[in-house]
Formats: sequence, structure tokens, C-alpha cells
Amino acid sequence: MKILVTGGLGYIGSHTVVELQNNGYDVLVIDNLSNSSFDVLDRIESISGIRPQYQELELRDKPAVISFFKQNSDIDAIIHFAASKAVGESVENPLLYYENNLNTLIYLLQECDAHSINSFIFSSSCTVYGEPDSLPITESAPVKKATSPYGNTKQISEEILIDVCSVSETLNTIALRYFNPIGAHNTAEIGELPKGTPQNLVPFITQTAAGIRKELSVFGDDYPTVDGSCIRDYIHVVDLANAHVVALERLLNKKNKANYEVFNIGTGRGSSVLEVVNAFEKVTNQKLNYKIVDRRPGDVVSVYADTNKANDELGWKAEKSMEDALESAWKWEKKVRGI
Ligand code: WQD
Repeated sequence: MKILVTGGLGYIGSHTVVELQNNGYDVLVIDNLSNSSFDVLDRIESISGIRPQYQELELRDKPAVISFFKQNSDIDAIIHFAASKAVGESVENPLLYYENNLNTLIYLLQECDAHSINSFIFSSSCTVYGEPDSLPITESAPVKKATSPYGNTKQISEEILIDVCSVSETLNTIALRYFNPIGAHNTAEIGELPKGTPQNLVPFITQTAAGIRKELSVFGDDYPTVDGSCIRDYIHVVDLANAHVVALERLLNKKNKANYEVFNIGTGRGSSVLEVVNAFEKVTNQKLNYKIVDRRPGDVVSVYADTNKANDELGWKAEKSMEDALESAWKWEKKVRGI
């Protein structure tokens, strides 16, 4: 079985490629290297012993996409990660997000139709929920008005998939709504390497601990939560990667109950920012420099997953702890920085 992984050199994509290979799948990676680097291929090979096929492809280039699929007619399924994903950047540059995240999905779905590729896994996000009315949040919770163009592209993408699947006789799709992916592969060969100043919490923590950042700014401790800081569902990226293999096999083995399905992929546990900081200090046995600053506009107070559907229906459950993830994130940071 040949699986096309778009964005396969990225953070979640590369971890998923490794898990696909570990499960015997033949992987073809496409990536435009806008937020990743070619040497991730070498690192994937060093973990799995298998070098995935790779082709550089700009998915926004429709003629190039058409020609790619003509040349690669043996693709059995697609796992689609390639997208822009920085919330703040999407506010400053919405058209980049609408073009990159939506056009590329449309071109891929057109190729699925043209080449009878019937299994499609989509990378969605808990961002579609906005500020939930109740917690833990289930897949049937209302999708709220997106708080950023990035979140809106995920909502619109899901709507595109629903509409396409409602008229397609053959396409079967699963959208995985990720919560907050953190951590790295335990070999420290692959991990999260944000370009520039990290927007996300854990890479900022590890860069602070590595002395690259002076201190972590905790965006607010006056929220109505256990310690005043925001709550999220932090999931180990390897658990998240395995969820893609399980979802893919659900489709390949025709176990899906509808041709469009959605699953929350989280741990079901909420942790506050300060709890993450404390856990990091405990795991690494070192003090972290941080200060409390003003709230970050657009942050939701608390969001974490109800994972019953993924556990019972999909047959997948997160196995690693937040401490495992933080330890792997720190090991990765030290390796990258040569500490
Ligand atoms: C987590 C918490 C911050 C940085 C975003 C996207 C989501 C997904 C994951 C793609 C928040 C606090 C953060 C810092 C802090 N991305 N924080 N200081 O915002 O929950 O989710 O990334 O799919 O779609 O929305 O993740 O890691 O940015 O923030 O205090 O320097 O950490 O306020 O409470 P977020 P995050």
C-alpha cells in the first residue's frame, strides 16, 4: 500500500511517516519545505531504516499537482498535513492562509476523484470549537465562529469535505481534530523546530531552558481556572501520529460507518500553563525562568477533549503522559542545540 503524506517533513507529518513505516506502509512524501527541511528525510531513515520516497511539490501549483498525480498513479491513500498553521500569522496574512489551506485541499480532492483515491485523512484542529460551552468537548459540540483565519480554514476545509463526501460514491474521509501536539520522537532525531520565535508553549519552554530565550512569558494568570492560567489538552506527537495509522486502517479495511467521520485526538486531560511549567521543571530537574504577562488576545480559557469516540469507535487511545512528552521535547532541544 502506497500512502501519500503531504507535509510529510513537518513536525506531525514526519512522526506519522515513521509510524506508517513501522506498520509496513510504503510512503511517498511531498513537502514544499516552507516550514521544514530536507534533512528530515535522513532522520526519518535513521529511525525506521527506510528512506521514504520524496518529491518536492508546491500544492498551490495546480498544473504541477495534476502532473504529479499522473506520474504517481499507484497512490492508495492520502494523509494531508500540508498547510499553514500559525494563528497569529493568519491574522496578519489571511489570503496566504485561504489560498494555501483551501486551494491545496481542493486540488488534492480533485485528484482523488480523477485517480480513484478513496481514502483521505485530514489534519483538522480543536481550534474549530472556539471557546467550548462545556467540557470535556465532544465531536458533536457546536463549531463556533473561528477566532482566526487559520481556524476558519480548518472549519471551511471540514465543510468542503462534508460536501464532497455527500456526493461522492467512492471517497471516504476522516478528519482528526488535534488538540495540542507536543514532544518529539524518543530518538531525538525528529521533533518540533519552529522557525523564528516559537508561538507555541512547549518549544518556547524548551528554548528558554536551553538559554536561547531569556524567559517564558505566561500569557495571563487571571483566568477562571485552577491556577489562573489557560488549560489545554497536550498530546504526545507520537500518540497523535499513531492515531493517523489507526484512522488510515479504518478506511483501508472499510470499517468506517460513514464516508465522512470526525474524531477528537487528545488525551482527555486538561493541563494549565503553570502545570506544564511545573511538570517541565520536575522532569528536567531545572528551574524555568518565567514571568506572568497580559493575556494573549484570542486565547480560549480552557479546552480539552472528550476522547470516548476515538477510544471506542476508532479504537485509539493516547498512551504517553505529558511528562513523557516534555522529557522528549527537552531531549530533542538539547540535541538540536548540541547541549
Ligand atoms: C497554549 C497555551 C497560551 C506560548 C495553537 C493553535 C492550535 C494548534 C496548537 C495548530 C495558551 C500559553 C503559549 C507562550 C504562553 N495549532 N502560552 N506563553 O494557542 O492552544 O493552540 O497551537 O493546529 O490550532 O491555536 O497553543 O501552544 O500557542 O498555547 O503562556 O509563550 O500556552 O496562552 O494558553 P494554542 P499554544
